[in-house]
Amino acid sequence: MAAGVLLFVAVNLACLTVSLNLVSGERSFSIDYKNNYFLKDGKPFQYISGSIHYSRIPRYYWKDRLVKMYMTGLNAIQVYVPWNFHEAVQGVHNFTGGRDLEHFLDLANQTGLLVILRPGPYICAEWEMGGLPAWLLQKPNIILRSADADYVEAVSNWLAVLLPKMKPWLYINGGNIITVQVENEYGSYFACDYNYMRHLRTLFRFFLGEDTVLFTTDGNTDKEMTCGTLEGLYATVDFGTDTNITIAFNRQRRFEPRGPLVNSEFYTGWLDHWGDPHAVVNAQKVSRVLGEMLAIGANVNMYMFEGGTNFGYWNGADHDTKFRSVVTSYDYDAPLSEAGDPTEKLLAIRDVIKQFRDIPSGPMPPATPKFAYGFVTLKKVGNISGLLNTLSPVGPVKSQYPLTFEEMKQFYGYMLYRTTLPRDLSEPTPLISPLNGVHDRAYVSVNGVFQGLLERDTMLVINVTGQQGDTVDILVENMGRVNFGSKINDYKGLLSNLILGKDVLTDWKIYPLDIDGAIAGGWPHIDSQTSFPAPQKDPSVGPVFYMGTLKPNGLAWDTFLKLNEWTKGQVWINGVNLGRYWPARGPQLTLYIPGPLLSTTLPNNITVLELEGAPAHLRVLFMDRLSLMSKSLNRAHLV
Ligand SMILES: *[C@@H]1O[C@H](CO)[C@@H](O)[C@H](O)[C@H]1NC(C)=O
Ligand SMILES: *[C@@H]1O[C@H](CO)[C@@H](O)[C@H](O)[C@H]1NC(C)=O
Ligand SMILES: *[C@@H]1O[C@H](CO)[C@@H](O)[C@H](O)[C@H]1NC(C)=O
Ligand SMILES: *[C@@H]1O[C@H](CO)[C@@H](O)[C@H](O)[C@H]1NC(C)=O
Ligand SMILES: *[C@@H]1O[C@H](CO)[C@@H](O)[C@H](O)[C@H]1NC(C)=O
Ligand SMILES: *[C@@H]1O[C@H](CO)[C@@H](O)[C@H](O)[C@H]1NC(C)=O
Repeated sequence: MAAGVLLFVAVNLACLTVSLNLVSGERSFSIDYKNNYFLKDGKPFQYISGSIHYSRIPRYYWKDRLVKMYMTGLNAIQVYVPWNFHEAVQGVHNFTGGRDLEHFLDLANQTGLLVILRPGPYICAEWEMGGLPAWLLQKPNIILRSADADYVEAVSNWLAVLLPKMKPWLYINGGNIITVQVENEYGSYFACDYNYMRHLRTLFRFFLGEDTVLFTTDGNTDKEMTCGTLEGLYATVDFGTDTNITIAFNRQRRFEPRGPLVNSEFYTGWLDHWGDPHAVVNAQKVSRVLGEMLAIGANVNMYMFEGGTNFGYWNGADHDTKFRSVVTSYDYDAPLSEAGDPTEKLLAIRDVIKQFRDIPSGPMPPATPKFAYGFVTLKKVGNISGLLNTLSPVGPVKSQYPLTFEEMKQFYGYMLYRTTLPRDLSEPTPLISPLNGVHDRAYVSVNGVFQGLLERDTMLVINVTGQQGDTVDILVENMGRVNFGSKINDYKGLLSNLILGKDVLTDWKIYPLDIDGAIAGGWPHIDSQTSFPAPQKDPSVGPVFYMGTLKPNGLAWDTFLKLNEWTKGQVWINGVNLGRYWPARGPQLTLYIPGPLLSTTLPNNITVLELEGAPAHLRVLFMDRLSLMSKSLNRAHLV
């Protein structure tokens, strides 16, 4: 096993940070412990950086966002590598198209931006399972982010693919990566397993060499710094506008008595969960605290500078008191908006940076043009139960008790659980999730009649009626795995039995659903429109597909899709999964559609899976601006 061998690679930590620059013109990047700064090519260096996640931005806009960051005066970007984005299937790696990390690094290099690389393996990032692949959960008792043998073997195999690719991109090897983070906020995790961190240190040193500056980032408390830091990995902190910078950097100093001050995540904004008010962070506060940090010579990375979008199923979730899923937009109230447009916050930040370094001359690139394509009326295609031949080509797995998504090897999206009523239920009879085992929402129909839904932590019982032998269809939605804290082993599907009256429901047929595969393959075809059911007076309830076409008008400009009075679901445009919508909860009311997804000449295919109930008008609206629920949350009042 590769893991076993690598554990024994000898590492001489004592020589970690001594990087000599004797040969003139040689590229070097190191830490000057005497003078408390970074040294780049032998000269003092301070970074002013911003976080940007290539996995949240369409590839064709990477360069645009990078140029805007450069024009703000940044000299570096900070980049997470989401493991599950590159290794969705164990052992199968994808570094092409929108997953072409090296192309992204190349564009940053061409733009004149250095890179602070954060390859995880765990990244948090409000990303599905904090970037860990859900296939790790096929080992039922795996202890993630620890020295657990199965976990360590998977991590070692992944880093043996990723890190050698990154090595030529290190600054010292002619690329633009100046520093590399190991793990992420490890001190916030319960395990506090130094053997795991030591193993990572060994792997990073083995693949990246002795001269690379490796670091850790932790929340600003003693407990987090104690469990998250390790000798040989430079300790940095993260904090937002409500933290006293003197106190915060003093804490970094207790763990790193000499060397540069670094705030690895200075929060320009904050994330949103469905059902919570929209979070905002005041631009004046961001620029004031940024100025204070730069004035004392600190190195600062702004998290986020460009947030982007959780397309598809990539959003994460939190689970403190209850499960809360992250919204599709990752706008983050960042200086560049979700659509990559400069904001007032960006201009305020640029004014601060100007006081500390020369910023590039020339105008800030303007916002990309937006277009209001107007209304499209959709048609009903059919309900999931009636479309299983198309959506589940492999057919069902039979099982006495329900299986999880992980046991079924379908890790994301939706899955259908089917059984029959064990007896006549003429009176409303409670269907109960006694162990809160619905992860995360279950849409229940009996013989095609929608009965209601169960929701994790929130709705554990509904009433159903029907006759013995009727078909019970339960569509279960994975709303994104927990990305932070001790509950990241977040299995999906029906994790425990459901009880109907006094009966445990058994003898399931479980249908894996490849909705994305069907839609990418051209379903539902336009020809099939002729056989669509005639428009109904009463709008359907329960999970139903709709489709429509946006006529091409020669433009492929960015736009925002509003599903007014729709309830909750998922949208695809021309086969691309835009993410979840849930205007019934908010605060996000529109989905960002990058212009290049639209065709200027062909009809643009819109597919909607509405899970609960569509409005009678069946209209969707393409607008030229985003829309949010008006009530917003000022983060400053939270802390
Ligand atoms: C790799 O990812 C890209 C999108 O970034 C996708 O277009 C391509 O089909 C994927 N390749 C494989 C082999 O799955
Ligand atoms: C990065 O860009 C510089 C020019 O700015 C170029 O000399 C160098 O070769 C580039 N590095 C890589 C790895 O492409
Ligand atoms: C931050 O803390 C230091 C040390 O306790 C204190 O002197 C200073 O006044 C504080 N700054 C602010 C802005 O509260
Ligand atoms: C679902 O579709 C099937 C097949 O088209 C149909 O028989 C059934 O009545 C539909 N159910 C609902 C609730 O519309
Ligand atoms: C189920 O039906 C019973 C009897 O009609 C009623 O008392 C109860 O409130 C209902 N429960 C739910 C969750 O709707
Ligand atoms: C939309 O779907 C139709 C087939 O149903 C196809 O002919 C057309 O090319 C698709 N449009 C785009 C932009 O892919």
